[in-house]
Amino acid sequence: MKPETVEDLEIRLLLEGIHHIYGYDFREYAQSSIKRRLTHWLAESEFGTFSEAQSRLLRERSLFEDLLRTITVNVTEMFRDPAFFKSVREQVVPFLKTYPFVKIWHAGCATGEEAYSMAILLNEEGMVGRYRIYATDINETVLDKAEEGVMPLAQMQRFTRNYQQSGGAASFANYYSARHDHAILNPSLKQDIVFSPHNLATDAAFGEMNMVLCRNVMIYFKHSLKERCLQLFDDSLRAGGFLCLGLKETLATKEINATYEELAPPLRIYRKRYLTQAETR
Ligand SMILES: C[S@@+](CC[C@H](N)C(=O)[O-])C[C@H]1O[C@@H](n2cnc3c(N)ncnc32)[C@H](O)[C@@H]1O
Repeated sequence: MKPETVEDLEIRLLLEGIHHIYGYDFREYAQSSIKRRLTHWLAESEFGTFSEAQSRLLRERSLFEDLLRTITVNVTEMFRDPAFFKSVREQVVPFLKTYPFVKIWHAGCATGEEAYSMAILLNEEGMVGRYRIYATDINETVLDKAEEGVMPLAQMQRFTRNYQQSGGAASFANYYSARHDHAILNPSLKQDIVFSPHNLATDAAFGEMNMVLCRNVMIYFKHSLKERCLQLFDDSLRAGGFLCLGLKETLATKEINATYEELAPPLRIYRKRYLTQAETR
């Protein structure tokens, strides 16, 4: 094993301190990715080393929040991976429709595009008033943006293409109004979405979900934290519920893997099996 460099040691101590003081646990994030982000933050800051930055970071919450914004990758888009949303529309929604009411959790929702896409899709499939979406993220700055539902107009061309490729048949322009260089999503889209802070590294499960989406979040985590998240999702999901991961992610543990069947293999949509009587005994 290579000896730890001074910088690696400084990072490890900083992450320990952050966990201790603020309760945010980044110790289980993939090391290369977190190091890259922290180094980028340091280069833009007034500090020369992490040791120099540490005492201020642990004392000034606003400085820590600035760092938090850099640590988390918040890239997202409406109807990201259109084939995934097409499969949700065609293969998942028919099951969801068999329930009078469904609960859906978007874990790591960033600025909300994924949750708004789901609301549009469910409304189009005749489920208005029959669902509640819980959209959560560790980063409260992105959650504030998500609640606003305002995005750069320049992105709308790409989002319209995604929407059409995902099987959307309406005019995407119906879902927002343009003001200057911004698109304001129709406020009615957020009426059944609850945005709230939730930290996958430290917080508890949400109960009785019919569907959990955690896409492009766990790629930044170490194996142990991925396992924690998958257990959390499993605890949240009802039997027959759906778990959706990012296209580069899989069910990490054999144990959990056995509880799910893969509905649409390349699209990472899994369905939680109903236990047989023998298994429940
Ligand atoms: C790349 S975005 C994914 C957004 C969306 N799910 C998608 O696929 O387009 C990753 C999000 O995960 C959030 N995140 C990172 N660590 C988290 C944690 N421990 N708990 C909850 N959210 C976390 C980040 O703040 C970020 O908004």
